[in-house]
This record gives sequence, C-alpha cells and structure tokens, in this order.
Amino acid sequence: MTKKIFRLYPPPFEYMELEGLYLKLHLHRLGTPESPFVYANFLTSLDGRIALEDSNGQTYLPKSLTTPDDFRLFLELECQADCLITHGGYLRSVEQKRLGNILQIGVTDNTRDLALWRREQGLSAQPAIVVASASLDFPMSPSIKEHGQACYIATGERADPVKLAYWREQGYEVILAGKGGMVEGDVLTRKLGELGYRSIYLIAGPHMLDTMVREGRLGRLFQTITHQLMGGEAFRTLLPGPELGPFGHLKLLSLYYDPASPLGAGQWFAQFESNFA
Ligand SMILES: NC(=O)c1ccc[n+]([C@@H]2O[C@H](COP(=O)([O-])OP(=O)(O)OC[C@H]3O[C@@H](n4cnc5c(N)ncnc54)[C@H](OP(=O)(O)O)[C@@H]3O)[C@@H](O)[C@H]2O)c1
Repeated sequence: MTKKIFRLYPPPFEYMELEGLYLKLHLHRLGTPESPFVYANFLTSLDGRIALEDSNGQTYLPKSLTTPDDFRLFLELECQADCLITHGGYLRSVEQKRLGNILQIGVTDNTRDLALWRREQGLSAQPAIVVASASLDFPMSPSIKEHGQACYIATGERADPVKLAYWREQGYEVILAGKGGMVEGDVLTRKLGELGYRSIYLIAGPHMLDTMVREGRLGRLFQTITHQLMGGEAFRTLLPGPELGPFGHLKLLSLYYDPASPLGAGQWFAQFESNFA
C-alpha cells in the first residue's frame, strides 16, 4: 500500500492514498486547441522561498524543499500534459549536472505506471517540449530526440538572427512569441494551441510563471508548501514582476496535508484555480 495523507479541503476530511491523487484530475481533458489549459507547480517554504542564492550568485533549490512524495505528484501532473514548457536555463543546468532530467515520463522502474496511464488515456508516449529562451544560448538535451519528442524553441521577435538561423538549421521549429526579447505567455499559449496542444505544463521558473499569470493564461497553480521558515538573504520567490492585482487572485480547489515530511515538519499540497484563464 502506498502512503496516505489527509484531505483537508474540500470536505469531508479524509485519509487518502497519495499515489493517484493528481491523476484523477484529468487535466488533459480540460483544454482545447482554441483554449489550451496551462498549469504550473511550485514548491515553497512558509516564508515564500522557491530557491536560495549562494555566495557566487548562483541559485539552487534547497534539498529541504523537495520530497519523494512531492516529486511523485509533480510526475502525475507532468503525465497529463501533451506539451511541457521548460527554458534555456534548465537545459544549461542539466548539462552542468546541477539538475536532473525531468523531460520524459515513465522511463524508470518506479514510474512505469505513468507511461501505461498515458497510453490508456490516448496521450502520446512523451509530451512535446518547448524551450523558452531569450539568449538562445543553451545545449539541446539529446534525450528529447532519443524519445522522439516534438521540440520547439520559443523566443521573442528581437532574438539574435544568427542564433535563430543556427537553431533552424539544426531542424528546430522556432516560435516567435513576443514583441521584445522575451516570450509572452499569451502569444505562446495561442501558438501552441494552433499547433494542436491542449494541456500545457509549465516546468519553467518564475519568469515564465509571471508572464502566464499576468496575461491571464494560467489555469491552475499547484503549490507544495513545506512547513519551514527558510530565511536566506538572497532568494527567489514565485513572481519576480511588479505588483499583480486581481490576476493574482486564486481560488482554492483542494488542500492535502502530509504531517510527516520533509524532515519531521509537514507540508500542504494545494491546488488553486485562476479566475481569469
Ligand atoms: N521551488 C520550485 O518549485 C522551483 C521551480 C522553478 C525554479 N526553481 C528554482 O528557482 C531558481 C530560479 O529559477 P529559474 O532559473 O527558472 O529562473 P527564471 O529567471 O524564471 O528563468 C531563467 C531562464 O529562463 C529563460 N526564460 C524565462 N522566462 C523567459 C521568457 N519569458 N522568455 C524567454 N526566456 C525566458 C531564460 O533563459 P535564457 O537565459 O536562455 O534566455 C532565463 O535565463 C532556480 O534555482 C530554480 O532551480 C524552483
């Protein structure tokens, strides 16, 4: 039997299996090509940290923010996507072995059930990948080709034409999704819909979350809140942009409580719906 956690909301209060909790949501059925469903997942401390910065200015994800249970739920969310949005910074970190590869689903012994679930749901074996990048300076992960995944590069219209030509020569479709150097959430979502994608999981960082929320494109935010006050003078939080106003007002859809981890503290698994997407 797998681990059980408490459902605090919606009522009734219940003791539930963690595995399968998010698969039941069927997020892949919520979007259409006309209006793709975009969702994101973040881990935070009680004082709102998603990452800390070391003395060299390098950001990192503190180990105390992550647990195997949270990772299982992350994979269940990934499993429901027909398209993942990552970014150039992530591919640089994978190449430098600072982060692990999370671009494929169900390829390890303990996650084969997720590959089967996708098949049963009529989803492609692996989701398409979008790499958002303003610099266009990143190494492409060989794992994407190895798994036959469609792969797009998203950037702004002011991107360096030499680098654009380089990626096109390598056979990648480039999506120009923004008037400046940066990708804009609204344009990117619309263009991915035109390509036929319906469920889009944002596995990028705070800047992509910011543009999706600000432009009313984020459908759901999943947030794991670990019960720790983290501190740390230099840190990252969910949204780097200016004050957001009503676009940032969310409605709680579900709240689960794991009293035992990480490290004897607890964590909440929260799911919020946006009023605007
Ligand atoms: N706790 C969590 O759940 C969580 C989640 C995500 C990240 N993190 C951590 O938070 C820290 C900061 O995250 P991050 O590195 O992802 O920060 P970020 O500043 O959001 O993204 C970094 C890179 O993504 C690309 N990018 C982002 N938004 C873009 C846009 N609108 N248009 C074009 N390119 C865009 C850029 O790549 P180019 O430089 O190639 O232009 C940029 O350098 C990291 O330590 C990360 O591990 C934590």
